[in-house]
Amino acid sequence: MSTSSFDPVLIEQLKKLQEKYAVMGQDLSSYLDGLLYSDYLTYWDYIHTDTLLSLQNPKTSFPDEQVFIMYHQITELYFKLILHETEQIAQREPLDEDFFLSRLGRINRYFKQLENSFDIMVDGMDKEQFLKYRMSLLPASGFQSAQYRLIEISSTSLINLMDEASRLQAKENDAIGQQMEKIYWRSGATELASGKKTLTLQQFEEKYLKTFANYAEQYRHKNLYQLYLQHFQNSPKADEIKAALREYDVVANVKWRLAHLRSAGRYLQKSPEDIKATGGTNWQKYLPPRFQRIMFFPALWTEEEKANWGRAAFER
Ligand code: HEM
Repeated sequence: MSTSSFDPVLIEQLKKLQEKYAVMGQDLSSYLDGLLYSDYLTYWDYIHTDTLLSLQNPKTSFPDEQVFIMYHQITELYFKLILHETEQIAQREPLDEDFFLSRLGRINRYFKQLENSFDIMVDGMDKEQFLKYRMSLLPASGFQSAQYRLIEISSTSLINLMDEASRLQAKENDAIGQQMEKIYWRSGATELASGKKTLTLQQFEEKYLKTFANYAEQYRHKNLYQLYLQHFQNSPKADEIKAALREYDVVANVKWRLAHLRSAGRYLQKSPEDIKATGGTNWQKYLPPRFQRIMFFPALWTEEEKANWGRAAFER
């Protein structure tokens, strides 16, 4: 067959391919051989469905434990999507407002999905089954989700993640190690009087504390809050950006937390004495957003809004 019977577009593509491979000192013909012998891509190889669907390994035979596992896994995948965006924003050079806004939009969409789907936990499991199989999961808890903590660290300065009393005394530029000491979830899982840490916290710290400290160092000037303060406070689209950041703060730190709290209320609230959490926190005092008052972007809220954090006004 003469080359003239080939589509000229194809010839052009071959030329470009040859140039591409030549730059790297590679022989195009050998790569074309590889193409000749390789199989067509399938959906299952690309998405790794078999691996994904093999990751549900319940500890008991209660059918609803599968719901519990899968919904946690779904959430972790959404957390990964969110981190994928905070990381892209941090790496972007130069970072412009359109990119910042479009990625914030994605983050807000992901978090809204998580908030809206939480009913799968609240209403979607038999209480009787839940209260039994949860005993086989001690002392594991969603508290130990590392990605959740990385999302927090890449979204704001560490000072805003300290427990409220420490936050008021600390300074923005204190050493990361010093700020990490007082991060709210460590205080929340430590008995105040004795200083004793829950086993859930001890194990979590052992596995991830160094990773978190390194990550916080890396994100000290590149977290979303700092990037906003450095680049966009007075930019032409400042209002739009402020609105997107406020939306993120509310969906992540009030609405998702309230949706999550409803699941604790549904399964663990029981008079006269509430059921203990698997992670051992005093969850009635720890989980409600109006107590920790974690906000990623404090400069964007008025004193009144801060005072009402996590109350009905934010539930809409
Ligand atoms: C019936 C469902 C659930 C119940 C009853 C529940 C209960 C709790 C409780 C009581 C805590 C406080 C820590 C402890 O002492 O264990 C907690 C923390 C947490 N849970 Fe859940 N949880 C549920 C589902 C989930 C799901 C699906 C996720 C998704 C990953 C999740 C993520 C978290 C996170 C990130 C924390 C830490 C929150 C913080 O530090 O402010 N939980 N959960």
